[in-house]
Amino acid sequence: MRKKVLLSGMQPSGETGMLHLGNYEGALKNWVRLQNSGKYEMYCCIVDWHSLTSNYKHTKNLTKRILNVAADYIASGLDPKKSTIFLQSLVKEHAELHLLLSMIVPVPWLERVPSYKQKSVELGLDSFGFLGYPLLMAADIMVYKGEVVPVGKDQAAHLEFTREVVRRFNSLYGELFPEPQPLWTEVPILPGTDGRKMSKSYNNHISLGDPQEIVRKKISSMFTDPSKIHRSDPGHPNRCPVYLLHKLYNPEYEKIYNPCVSGSTEWGCVKCKKLLTEHLLAFLDPIRKKREELLSDPGELMRILASGAEKAREKASATMREVRAAMHMLEAEL
Ligand code: ADP
Ligand code: TRP
Repeated sequence: MRKKVLLSGMQPSGETGMLHLGNYEGALKNWVRLQNSGKYEMYCCIVDWHSLTSNYKHTKNLTKRILNVAADYIASGLDPKKSTIFLQSLVKEHAELHLLLSMIVPVPWLERVPSYKQKSVELGLDSFGFLGYPLLMAADIMVYKGEVVPVGKDQAAHLEFTREVVRRFNSLYGELFPEPQPLWTEVPILPGTDGRKMSKSYNNHISLGDPQEIVRKKISSMFTDPSKIHRSDPGHPNRCPVYLLHKLYNPEYEKIYNPCVSGSTEWGCVKCKKLLTEHLLAFLDPIRKKREELLSDPGELMRILASGAEKAREKASATMREVRAAMHMLEAEL
């Protein structure tokens, strides 16, 4: 049976590019599971052009950020032998398709994508490139004739936009592209140390590469149930971000529910956080060791990204030949 084409990507954003627990639970873990199912032809991209749509000023550490994402991908279980792991900007076909699609996409389609309105105000972004963010994502998917896109619900509007672009292209030039299907990741939004959604932009994240002492510090200063001020106050575990992390990393999390709810004097937030830290470190230690090992040889990481790009380019350039033919563009053999 033919394997379905699966495409996904993450930006090398933030100060270091290092991915965090939210990225892992919300995306990466699922990619690894899908990779290991053997059912998909996997393309896992590091979308460096996308990161420039918001952060074009500070590019000095871009290479470092890219290598951190590559190391996080592989340390989390993505395997370059099973998945094509590559850097977006090494496959120029993404840019060519983005340009051709920009001819057929009305500007109001882009202006009404919710993330545009929200982030353009929030981050003061007004560039042409930023407006085109969802179209570049559509090109990323379409250039591989992507059929399945595993993303969190925060990407729903971008995927619906991609499907609209596919329909528009197909109706103008003939049925060339499949409509990609989202594969929603079922995990809830992972809370950060301040109880909001864990995100690089809120600086409330625990990175996959954080050293042990940083993880300890971050967990010890984590927000808890605000109505549990004294140890004897009854807690509300399901409103507490510490408990939500216990649920993911402590196999015996149910044991702490009753002591918390009953306000047992034997069990306070400090103890609860210490226990979480031990479970979390047991999960993070092997990932951190693996990523450090990978980062000690940046040349090898670059080779992985370049050889992934070579493989990706084969497929992308075949699609572009079909696109140019469908649009009756002159194909000159040089
Ligand atoms: P950030 O908010 O840190 O910049 P991104 O927006 O780059 O993260 O997200 C990359 C991927 O990780 C997306 O697929 C998104 O759904 C997932 N993701 C990010 N933060 C979380 C979270 N707190 N919980 C679950 N999934 C998340
Ligand atoms: N917009 C996605 C995010 O912020 C990243 C992305 C870019 C992507 N191109 C993609 C995801 C193609 C899936 C497929 O998470």
